[in-house]
This record gives sequence, C-alpha cells and structure tokens, in this order.
Amino acid sequence: MEREISLPYQEFENDSFLNDADQSLVKDARKATADSYSPYSGFKVAAAGRLKDGTVLTGTNQENASYPVGICAERTLLSTVGALFPNAPIDTIVITYHNPEGHSDHPVAPCGICRQSLVEYENRTDASIRLILTGYTGKVIVIEKASALLPFSFSASDMA
Ligand code: THU
Repeated sequence: MEREISLPYQEFENDSFLNDADQSLVKDARKATADSYSPYSGFKVAAAGRLKDGTVLTGTNQENASYPVGICAERTLLSTVGALFPNAPIDTIVITYHNPEGHSDHPVAPCGICRQSLVEYENRTDASIRLILTGYTGKVIVIEKASALLPFSFSASDMA
C-alpha cells in the first residue's frame, strides 16, 4: 500500500501578517541574534520561545574552537527552558538569523539534531510547539507542530 505524509504550513510575505504576540516574539528573536557567539561561522542564529503562560525566553548559537562542540540556538533555548521552567509547555518558537556577511532575508529551518530535540520536548510536555521561521527580514513560514518536520522520528515509545 502506498502512503504519503504531507507537511501543511503557512507562508507570508513578511511578519506584518502575524498577530501582535507573534510579531513581538519575532522582534525579540531578531534582537537576540546580537547575543550569538559565532566567531567561526559568522552566522548569528536566535530562537525566541513563548511558553503557554506567556513567559518569553531566548537562545542563540554558541560556537567553539573545537567546532562540533558548538550548540544551535534552538537547543540553547530548549536547555534554558528545561533548566529554568522544567516541563513548561512551549506555545511558539521563532527561529531567525542575521548573516552580516551574506543574506538574511529568507527563512531557515532547524537542523536535524534540533528537530529531534524539539520533538522530544513536545513529547515530554504533551504539547505541540508552533514554529515561526523567518530571516532578519522577509518571508515568514509558520508550522503548527515541530514533529511535522521530523516524520518517522525515533522516540522513547520505540523502546517500550
Ligand atoms: N545553527 C543554528 O543555531 N540553528 C540552525 O537551525 C542552523 C544552524 C548554527 C550552528 C552554527 O553555529 C551556525 O549556525 C552555522 O551552522
């Protein structure tokens, strides 16, 4: 039997099409790119998360002279939430970046490791995380749940 998985998402010309709370989160995320520690790639990524209770936290990519040691903005954010507000459901995460040496005008999506971490957090809190992807300017993509970006994912239930 042939089956298919589809990925529904919304796409907007810019962030003015978002509601006030989401626009504010985009602003926080874009501002946070300045806190990125990325002397090796020069690619400043930030993730801003709004918890279900309205608390907003940010995370940025943190690189290292030993390159694989670096951590992405999304996992910095998830670690911060996990440390300060363990098991708090996350409503929405904005992922953005500023690339001073290149273009910053199109959305980027989380890497594979971050997708796995986002899905673990969704499972752990039994709550979907809405993702808003956008550059420092330009188009915005909204995906209703992080797990949509990781079909056939491996999770704790596989080890039951
Ligand atoms: N990076 C992130 O922080 N998040 C992503 O979704 C993609 C990549 C970081 C890792 C590294 O510090 C730099 O961007 C270039 O890959």
